[in-house]
Amino acid sequence: GRTTGSSVATGSEKDADDGTRTKLTVFYGTQTGTSERYAREVVAHARARYGDAVRARAIDLETVDAMGAEDALQAETACAVFLQSTYGDGEPTDTSQDFVYWARDAANDGRMPDLLESLTFSVFGLGNRSYEQFNAAAKMVHNALIGLGAKPLLKLHLGDDDQCLEQDFENWIEAFWPAFETKFGLHSDGGDEDLPRYDVVMMDGGDGERAAATQAAKYEKEHSNARVAATATHPFLAPVKVVRELYGNGADRSCVHVDFNISGTSLHYKTGDHLGVFAENGADIVKRVAKTLKCDVDSVFRLEKPIDAPASLPEPFATPMTVGGAIARYVDVLSMPRKQALAALASVASDKDAKKLAFLASPAGKDEFAKYITKPHRSLLEVMEDYPSAVPDLGLFFGAIAPRLAPRFYSISSSPAADKNIVTATVAVVKEKVATGREHEGVASTFLQRAAEGQKIPIFVRTSTFRLPQNPEAPIIMIGPGTGYAPFRGFLQERTALKASGAKLGPAMLFFGCRNKDKDFMYEAEMQAALEDGVITSLDVAFSRDGPKKVYVQDKIIEKASTVYPIVKGTVGKNEGAVYICGDAKNMARDVNKALLSVLMREGDYAAHEAEEILRRLKNEFRYHQDVW
Ligand code: 2AM
Repeated sequence: GRTTGSSVATGSEKDADDGTRTKLTVFYGTQTGTSERYAREVVAHARARYGDAVRARAIDLETVDAMGAEDALQAETACAVFLQSTYGDGEPTDTSQDFVYWARDAANDGRMPDLLESLTFSVFGLGNRSYEQFNAAAKMVHNALIGLGAKPLLKLHLGDDDQCLEQDFENWIEAFWPAFETKFGLHSDGGDEDLPRYDVVMMDGGDGERAAATQAAKYEKEHSNARVAATATHPFLAPVKVVRELYGNGADRSCVHVDFNISGTSLHYKTGDHLGVFAENGADIVKRVAKTLKCDVDSVFRLEKPIDAPASLPEPFATPMTVGGAIARYVDVLSMPRKQALAALASVASDKDAKKLAFLASPAGKDEFAKYITKPHRSLLEVMEDYPSAVPDLGLFFGAIAPRLAPRFYSISSSPAADKNIVTATVAVVKEKVATGREHEGVASTFLQRAAEGQKIPIFVRTSTFRLPQNPEAPIIMIGPGTGYAPFRGFLQERTALKASGAKLGPAMLFFGCRNKDKDFMYEAEMQAALEDGVITSLDVAFSRDGPKKVYVQDKIIEKASTVYPIVKGTVGKNEGAVYICGDAKNMARDVNKALLSVLMREGDYAAHEAEEILRRLKNEFRYHQDVW
């Protein structure tokens, strides 16, 4: 079992630190909170398994900047775990970039081959195989640590969110503990981690209502303060100025345009940045969740973190709040449940259900988990409805069962050069039938589609590297089918402003693709106007479902090979031309890449490996940009 009490009995933390405890530090670089959650879990496991024999803690790589990285790593003399996420175009998460690039450069310059010789480490990467640069940041960290003399405890483990990240993480952790024990001569006392849970205080009657109202007013005030920079942990409440359907009219497939009014706020952005949006679950979902919890949506409660809470329990969100409000804002119930959630549900279910749920959560239930959860994408909410005897109290529900609802990111589709008081998101509404027969509605896109004008929504800006060239005369190629057009709408606005201010614009080719000319050719008038005004020099649109056979953007690129070629080759302008691809990562970005290779081979007579080399060089020179998802 746990030995939490004994560190108090044997004296202060500090005494126990003096050389006798094995240090295990879990570094994480997180974007949406997943690696942070995993880090907390590793620490909690370590405490449960080894008690005071191991000093485990989690450190956000955000706190390790390039200046302090060497000292921070050298202080780690035993074991370090790196939970490293990769996003977008193979980049480390924003907050870990300083560290990752420091490590890469320090290893590359080769002057400190023994810097970390007393460090043993293991890297688990959080990535997605549908991206070209699969787990690039994790690979970078793993190789850099070896280059700095650290010893890998295990081979590099790469998690794939396209399949099942959860399972990959478990496989890693199952391999990690035995290796860790062998290396440091430790024994697990077999302790199970306590389920993380909050303490809950229900607040009935008028007092509760007043307390919730006070808290809501406080939240609104704190998140409307223009002097506090808007970040993921402190988003800004921005009023919606316009919501309109670009196509679809609420039918099967639709896309919405949302303008936020950011005048007088702390939000600033550059053309090409991303917008983080905190969405809410719809009223229908909230009702169903409350029913499984046997709770009234209007009752008010307060959450507190127990003093002896396991390390895996995050800080509670701000309460008092109504149950309905908390379910709407803070829980992701439409995603698949984690094994810990199933174990927690098992702990409160009737015997029969408990047995089934515990089996699903156990290593032996791996296949059943895949069949019941992963394959059909069964949501946490559906599982709770399948097992009505499992009624967790709110402390267990928010602590161990329902993960926090993470912000969603959109490529901003406006430019501050057009109107610095507006930031726009162009959002395809996610609505699809999944194998369980359920109609899956994307939390954030559905929320934005239903948003009312004037409604205040918590948002923040994430910086990207998707930027127009410094020189407006440099030629560019923009390729963005569907909502992949979003950042290019910003580019067009910026070029319009540049032109108005007297700048000379270089060639700009725009490739757009959609299904039908009459149905989903969004922003058509804007694109045509940009063409007429010379903001872009060509507009090629691929309609995939209008003719007898599919036409895609890559077909249009091949048609325009002779114009595309010199820009990609860098013989137009001052060798500054750039290619931009935005949209679907899985198929489109790859197919477009292939089309560009064949343009080079056809027009320039290059062999395949030479064409690849040209694109590689373009990437290294930051002239081949991808914003794909
Ligand atoms: P489709 O759905 O008719 O196959 C925006 O979603 C547009 O991108 C649609 O016209 C869609 O066509 C198209 N699209 C689908 N797969 C693609 C791919 N691999 N490459 C380029 N465009 C693609």
